[in-house]
Amino acid sequence: MKQANVIIIGSGIAAMQLAKRLRHDMNVIILTKSTVSTSNSSLAQGGIAAAINKRDIPLKHYNDTLEAGRYHNDSAVVEAITRAAPSLIHELIVDGCEFDRDSEGRLLLGLEGAHSENRIVHCGGDATGKHVMEFLTADMPSNLEMIENLFVYELLVDEINKCCYGIKAKTAEGKIEMMLADHVVLATGGCGQLYSYTSNEDTVCGDGIALAYRAGAELTDMEFIQFHPTLLYIGGKTRGLVSEAVRGEGGFLVTDDGQSIMDGIHRLKDLAPRHIVSQTIYSYLKQEKQIYLDISKVKHFRRRFPTIAQLCEKNGVNLNSKLIPVVPGSHFLMGGIRSDMQGRTNIEGLYAIGEVACTGVHGANRLASNSLLEGLFFGRQLADYLNRQVQSAKGIQDRVIQLQAEAGQLLFCPTITEIKERMMDLVGIVRTEEGLLQQQKWLRQYEMNPFLSLDGLSIKDTQTYFMMITAGLITNAALMRTESRGGHYRTDYPKEQAGWQGKKMTQTIKRDGI
Ligand code: SIN
Repeated sequence: MKQANVIIIGSGIAAMQLAKRLRHDMNVIILTKSTVSTSNSSLAQGGIAAAINKRDIPLKHYNDTLEAGRYHNDSAVVEAITRAAPSLIHELIVDGCEFDRDSEGRLLLGLEGAHSENRIVHCGGDATGKHVMEFLTADMPSNLEMIENLFVYELLVDEINKCCYGIKAKTAEGKIEMMLADHVVLATGGCGQLYSYTSNEDTVCGDGIALAYRAGAELTDMEFIQFHPTLLYIGGKTRGLVSEAVRGEGGFLVTDDGQSIMDGIHRLKDLAPRHIVSQTIYSYLKQEKQIYLDISKVKHFRRRFPTIAQLCEKNGVNLNSKLIPVVPGSHFLMGGIRSDMQGRTNIEGLYAIGEVACTGVHGANRLASNSLLEGLFFGRQLADYLNRQVQSAKGIQDRVIQLQAEAGQLLFCPTITEIKERMMDLVGIVRTEEGLLQQQKWLRQYEMNPFLSLDGLSIKDTQTYFMMITAGLITNAALMRTESRGGHYRTDYPKEQAGWQGKKMTQTIKRDGI
């Protein structure tokens, strides 16, 4: 059985920042269910927000983050991250990561929705995530072992000592592997694939959320899902992200007869916070009207946005028409596993960083380009914390781990397409009590027992079961919150209610001893 000081599950920016910054005398294993280059971080187009320009200060970035988050954020965390942002960019530059610069060598800073200043540092025009991830994954230190194509399906938790001490995982062939560790880190990303329209990688299905829930970790703010306003929409399907930075460079949303849809909706028009823009587009879609991103005012579109230009052309969009068909789709989970400034959860030895975590930084809606920043910040925070810990063996060699031998299957479960379509319709951009109750009832007819043994289940069935757990957590939280705020909009409670601001709905399973 493999043993490590630290096991990291996931391979996005938070995972890699942590792995790179851990002490080199530690034995670290990174596990990913696909390949190291497959993550939402690699898909990120816009960039990384940091108050770097001369007119800007972290306080302005802080204020914009709170405003976009509808003041549901934890202000101490927002203060820490916005203050740290310039130094995180500086560290990357010193380490050799290159960002886009003007002819005089100054960093080019883009503008995105709800930012009061140009503060988005980017690389390769619109390929920031890809470049930063390539940089972070190059030259991995020798204390790191990277294992790809291994699906973690259970966290090992000692109910008596209330600590997490390892994981169980399966290979594609169904072979079970167990690994023990002093520290287990969930950095698995969010749950975008729970929705039929999404910007997320195919692999991002809420695994970390379900793993943590089954282990007895606290989850919070699960009702807050961000729908990005502009996903390329061709043939009834979403085909990838069209960055908000396009609107930052002059793009604007129009109907098919050329009318601008954001005039009179918000003072920032096309650069209003994402939930406002998504809800506006959605109201047109409900009337069967297609919305387009008009790029006629964007200078040098192909040069500034090469990834998006290629995506459009690959999908048959004629860029000379200057119109890109778009719809909103699920993009980011603001809620997640409740964790503190160091990434610690309520279970000793279990940590959560990046999108899977809920630290309160994003509140009810994340500000654009604060997600790569979050990964960099919490990866470094947790590394600093773990580097200070004295490693104890915790007697892990003595543990006896039971396996339930018989092969099993979920006797009665929906298809993944059904889950995604129902989540989009009933727990999506616009919600109602009726729709949420309908979804809750539908989910409850299936096997949702959080103590079900997964040893004998196929990866596909386990994945479906994890998606149902995560869908249930979002649906329950959305039913509980009888107001609208940020990424949670209910037509039966269309306004923010002061009493709900900052109020958390912690969801956890009741386990003896935890
Ligand atoms: C975008 O480029 O629009 C996405 C960036 C983000 O979600 O922060």
